[in-house]
Amino acid sequence: MGTPPQNRWNLDSVIGLEHRIAPSYFHAAPAQVAENFERLLARDVFSEADAQFLYDWLLHRGISPGFRQMLDAWLEDELKHYQGLRRCYHALSGVAYAEMDREAAARAAQRNLEPIEDLLVDEFSILLLLAYDEIGSTYSYRRDLAEFYGHFGRRSPHRAPFGQR
Ligand SMILES: [Fe+2]
Repeated sequence: MGTPPQNRWNLDSVIGLEHRIAPSYFHAAPAQVAENFERLLARDVFSEADAQFLYDWLLHRGISPGFRQMLDAWLEDELKHYQGLRRCYHALSGVAYAEMDREAAARAAQRNLEPIEDLLVDEFSILLLLAYDEIGSTYSYRRDLAEFYGHFGRRSPHRAPFGQR
C-alpha cells in the first residue's frame, strides 16, 4: 500500500520547526486569547501523542495484516499532527521541545486504556472508535481555527476564511 492521500502533506511547508509568532499578533489578539490558546495547545499536543500508545496497545492485542496496514497509515498521520502541534505550541509559548519531551514521558506513565477497553473488542469496534474520534477532532479543530489559530497567523489565500469551511 502506498502513502494514502491524507498523508501526502509536508509539515515544514505548514510551519517551520523554529517558527515563532511575531509580537504584533499578540498585541492585536483580544484579551486572554493567547493564554487560553497556550492552555489548549498544551493539552492538544499530548492527546495527539496518545495515538502511539493506542497503536502499541492494539499491536500487542493482535490484529489482522489488513488492519495493521490501515493502522500504520493512521499512526503516520497522527504523529504528523503531534509534530505539528508541538511546533504550534513552541511558536506560541516558546516552550522548548526538550521540555515537551519530559512532559510527554511523565504523562506516558499515567496512560490507561482500561476505561475504554469495552469499546475496543474487535477491529470493527476499534474502527468505530477511531472514526468517532476523527469526527470530534474535525469539529473541535475547526472551532479552534476561528477562536484561536486565526489570531496568530496569516490565512492561506487558497482557503476559505477560518471558521467558514
Ligand atoms: Fe490527530
